[in-house]
Amino acid sequence: MGFVVAVDGTAGSGKGSITKIVAERLNLKTIDTGAMYRCVTLAMLEQNVKLEETEKIMEILKNIKIEFVDEDKEKKVKLNGRDVTLKIRSKEVNEFVSPVSTVRVVREYLANMQREMAKSIDVIMEGRDIGTNVFPNADVKIYLDATVEERAKRRFRQNKENGIDIPFEEILKNVKERDYIDSHREIAPLTKAPDAVYIDSTGMTIEEEAEEVIKIINEKRK
Ligand code: DC
Repeated sequence: MGFVVAVDGTAGSGKGSITKIVAERLNLKTIDTGAMYRCVTLAMLEQNVKLEETEKIMEILKNIKIEFVDEDKEKKVKLNGRDVTLKIRSKEVNEFVSPVSTVRVVREYLANMQREMAKSIDVIMEGRDIGTNVFPNADVKIYLDATVEERAKRRFRQNKENGIDIPFEEILKNVKERDYIDSHREIAPLTKAPDAVYIDSTGMTIEEEAEEVIKIINEKRK
């Protein structure tokens, strides 16, 4: 096993942006596990598979190939070879991804896939259960949070930059709903690992947040 940095936290807490900056500066591979849950969700929506159709979900999981690739200086997410980077951020996926991530077979399958991906490389992996469930022995554990209004504002800005047009009120409602489902589900709910460092990023810039995380990692890596 390589060096593992686990970054967990609420929706819109800055996990994605921080992870990207830290990975580049410290030469770690990023793995966005939320994107993996989003890929499964997209596949289920496209094939009209319902939450209770376990067999069909298993079939999707068995045939799924998720890749994170650098293309044209951008990070792309590929689902069975198809670029789904923007599609997995759509309103439909946003609304269905938390319920999908409560399904036991989905969680077990993806957690194993995540462990495989980190087998021989140094990674920074972001999600909801990385420090508690996927890598309980991670070298560094970070838990990011911010107020719900601040997180919704960030998602709103991020969507705008990507040409995705969802009203602010709708994003706020979705973030609140996802917070609730993510932290109340039966299997591997979102919670801070006792040994994770808690960072409240309300009012902090991405750069300040990234520097704080780099400092914590460097201290552990010494
Ligand atoms: O980080 P994100 O917003 O892209 O994550 C999308 C959803 O995926 C989130 O609402 C909960 C789920 N998720 C999870 O259950 N476990 C993870 N390790 C990562 C994401």
